[in-house]
Amino acid sequence: MSHQRKNKPPPGAKKDKMSQFEMTWGVIRPYFAQYRWKLYYVIVISLIASSFEPSIAVMVKPVFNAVAEHKEEARPLLWVVPLGMIFLFALRGAFVFYAKYSLEKLVLKVVRDIQVSLYQHFMFLSLAHYERSTTGEMMSRTVNDTAHMNRIIPMTVDAISQTFQLLGLIGVCFYMEPKLSLLAMIVFPAALLPTQWVGTGMRRYTKKGLREVAVINSMMQETYSGTKVVKAFAMVTREIERYREIMYKLLGIQYKYARVKNLISPLLGAMGAIGIAPIVYYALLRLTEPGESAAGVIGSMGAFVGAVALMYNPLRKLGEIFGHLNSAYGAAERIRATFEQQTTVTESPDAIVLPPMQNEIRYHRVSFKYEDEWVLQDFNMTAKKGELVALVGVSGSGKSTVVNLLPRFYDVSEGAITIDGVDIRKATLRSLRLQIGVVTQETFLFNDTVANNIKYGSDDKTIEEVIAAAQAAYAHDFVMKLPSGYDTVIGERGVRLSGGERQRLAIARALLKDPPILILDEATSALDTAAEREVQKALDSLVKNRTTIAIAHRLSTIRHASKIVVIKNGKVAEQGTHTELMAREGEYKRLYEMQFFLTEHATDHYSDGDAGAETSD
Ligand SMILES: Nc1ncnc2c1ncn2[C@@H]1O[C@H](COP(=O)(O)OP(=O)(O)OP(=O)(O)O)[C@@H](O)[C@H]1O
Ligand SMILES: [Mg+2]
Repeated sequence: MSHQRKNKPPPGAKKDKMSQFEMTWGVIRPYFAQYRWKLYYVIVISLIASSFEPSIAVMVKPVFNAVAEHKEEARPLLWVVPLGMIFLFALRGAFVFYAKYSLEKLVLKVVRDIQVSLYQHFMFLSLAHYERSTTGEMMSRTVNDTAHMNRIIPMTVDAISQTFQLLGLIGVCFYMEPKLSLLAMIVFPAALLPTQWVGTGMRRYTKKGLREVAVINSMMQETYSGTKVVKAFAMVTREIERYREIMYKLLGIQYKYARVKNLISPLLGAMGAIGIAPIVYYALLRLTEPGESAAGVIGSMGAFVGAVALMYNPLRKLGEIFGHLNSAYGAAERIRATFEQQTTVTESPDAIVLPPMQNEIRYHRVSFKYEDEWVLQDFNMTAKKGELVALVGVSGSGKSTVVNLLPRFYDVSEGAITIDGVDIRKATLRSLRLQIGVVTQETFLFNDTVANNIKYGSDDKTIEEVIAAAQAAYAHDFVMKLPSGYDTVIGERGVRLSGGERQRLAIARALLKDPPILILDEATSALDTAAEREVQKALDSLVKNRTTIAIAHRLSTIRHASKIVVIKNGKVAEQGTHTELMAREGEYKRLYEMQFFLTEHATDHYSDGDAGAETSD
């Protein structure tokens, strides 16, 4: 789907009506381009449907005149007129139905397409984006904002057909009473004036409302999924209060929206009266003239007034459409802004498929900052094929950042990371990420069966392979104890499993993917000793025959690493094997001894090294 760029510059300071309309259409145009002919077709049908009313109006006068002229002779044919009317209205009904139904299908389709490409857009955005906006915001953008777009197409079609109808009626009026019509035309534009500020109001309140809806969605998302924390901190009533508060704020905005929205019709009605008033005055004036009979005046003006009255409907509708277009515009602006957010991690057009790693991963003078502050500076490191490289350092020193750069969750700010000499930015994201397995402290499990969770990313694997992976990850035994074994659905976020069990599933998942490169970020720090031993065994089978970059707080677990890289303030402080580093009497030895001391003396197993450390991933 070609969702990326719109062909228009950003709205900027453009505020005139035309550009608003253009902008709003600009958002949906790419999606309905392929249905353009269908739309034209629907417009034609709508025009035909809306031409019925003026033509009926136009026929009234000649028919009545003819009947009045022929008197008795006309009598046998009188039934033709009412029957003809019934027929015409039935035909009109058929056209209206067909036009509306086709249009609605078209709209549903277009809105679905926009939603799909918004989703696609969000999924492709880099992680940095996900840190800036909440899940609730993104959900409301995809669901609520797009819902406003479904009005634009039918409203535009409607606007066109209402305009035609209006023009037709105006034509009829001029045909019957040119002088009077001219008079009416002078007051007519005044009727459109109030729609101006009503429209502005609708747009403003729509935007405000959508902003609140996003806040509400984020809040619900947070408190529903963080309900344990909410309860544990006795915040239930506070959260309910907070929810009520935002909901009432939204209600206030909706009240205002309702007020302006419902003002349109009455305003137009009142303005319409201003249009009719001079006509009535003129008619009364004619009655005062000698020789004018009441019947004559009413006969000649009846049809005219009828036509003017018929104008009220299209006028009112046009006013409403105008207001709604303004509110859709508010939503369109937000959607457009979303599409304009560019992912920072992009694939170069001539990206190559990265061949399986043969030699080494190299961090070459890598510097990195998330925002303004340098997190890594001139960081150099190599991991040769089959090596286990351990990253060590105090909390916040930049260990997770180092590993996050490898699958390009973020791109380096300076320097380069290469795999066998190929800059990872020159490779396709897919071929790069397929080579890397990531096991982190926080295991994300989908609301799906155990088997499917293990199979995630390796759909082509058989159940035997899944079981083999689970066995190697020491997960098979506990999986077999679950009610339906591998077919057990594990709840949202796998709440029914323990931390260690979840981690072993994550390890099984990585084993099944079988990537040549492995990233382990504190994979064992959340566990007690027994669970850790299980996970450690699982990890040992995972690490085998792979190039691994491991972060572990418990230094005892990485003593056998091929190389230990000590990071301090985003720089490599020292590196070497455990023995070498211990001999150096440097940072590593200090960390190691401190930890050794703490584990020897603390009763609480967790108060080692970086007690209370939280990873930011
Ligand atoms: N997404 C982010 N946006 C901005 N700053 C970040 C982000 N992630 C980490 N940082 C900052 O970068 C620095 C390094 O963080 P990093 O997560 O790499 O540390 P770490 O060595 O993994 O720590 P720990 O041992 O606690 O996991 C910290 O100062 C942290 O505040
Ligand atoms: Mg970390």
